[in-house]
Amino acid sequence: MHVPPPYPLARPRRLRRDAYTRALVREHRLHPSDLIYPVFVLEGQGRTEDVGSMPGVQRLSLDRLLPVAEQCVELGVPVMALFPVLDGTHKTPDGREAANPDGLVPKVVAELKRRFPDLGVMTDVALDPYTSHGQDGLIDDDGYVLNDVTIEVLVQQALTQARAGVDIVAPSDMMDGRIGAIRRALETEGLIHTRIMAYSAKYASAFYGPFRDAVGSAGNLGKSNKKVYQMDPGNTDEALREVGLDLAEGADMVMVKPGMPYLDVVRRVKDEFHVPTFAYQVSGEYAMLKAAAGNGWLDHDAVMMESLLAFKRAGADGILTYFALDAARVLRQSKD
Ligand code: PBG
Repeated sequence: MHVPPPYPLARPRRLRRDAYTRALVREHRLHPSDLIYPVFVLEGQGRTEDVGSMPGVQRLSLDRLLPVAEQCVELGVPVMALFPVLDGTHKTPDGREAANPDGLVPKVVAELKRRFPDLGVMTDVALDPYTSHGQDGLIDDDGYVLNDVTIEVLVQQALTQARAGVDIVAPSDMMDGRIGAIRRALETEGLIHTRIMAYSAKYASAFYGPFRDAVGSAGNLGKSNKKVYQMDPGNTDEALREVGLDLAEGADMVMVKPGMPYLDVVRRVKDEFHVPTFAYQVSGEYAMLKAAAGNGWLDHDAVMMESLLAFKRAGADGILTYFALDAARVLRQSKD
């Protein structure tokens, strides 16, 4: 490493003195094309519901989602990630609605791709919006989430989404072997262009609370948790192992989740594998920043932009964030 001459020859503050010099030497930048916008979609028409624990986030029916998709295109946000919110009648112990070709997600995917062919659409592969117990997979009599039978349903779910025309399927369920099973099924059907973004290092995190309110799985989940399949927050070597497996099984892109508290994991994954690496600034991270900003304790736009830039610095190629549209608007106004 280059050893700089000591003070006073070295005065690092020279490069911080004015905005143009700071811009000149800035190593990392955020761009709208780094952002993926997660949205919550409802059945029916003309429906808008606020998510109480996520100020500024709403659940929308398809007709209300179309203008949001248009804003993504206009602001240069390349991908929207869909999360369905279903009423109780569609939830069963086996989550079978997940594979219904006439279900909400395939319908929304097809319509979005028809109207906005240049906007990327991504869908979650996991059963939690569809199970009456709120787990991401099928359970046995003791409530244990079963791996191999769950994969069979996940494969059908991913195929349903891919047939509807989705660009990226994103398995967020953390079952072992699901990436390989989904990849093989896609290839067998000739769906060779469907990309897989694997939620590879997904931790059993308390930061998902507001999301579970948003999709209505919190009540179903009750006091149970997802620790028997999502990762233990104490581990990072295990994250590399998970990423390695998912890449070997056919993932095109990998993800670390949550985001801000796990930037060390993002850095290790990027350094180890040199593949497109994404991070999810999850609902609880969003809620924290919104709550503090709403109380006037933090400057909303400043912390939003700083928090997103931190992902880039950690090595992320892109960020899933509920701030995507707001951040893209700030970027459009700024000269940085
Ligand atoms: C579902 C899923 C979750 C999130 C994305 N996909 C919740 C969970 O695993 O319980 C969380 C996203 C967020 O908190 O913003 N498998």
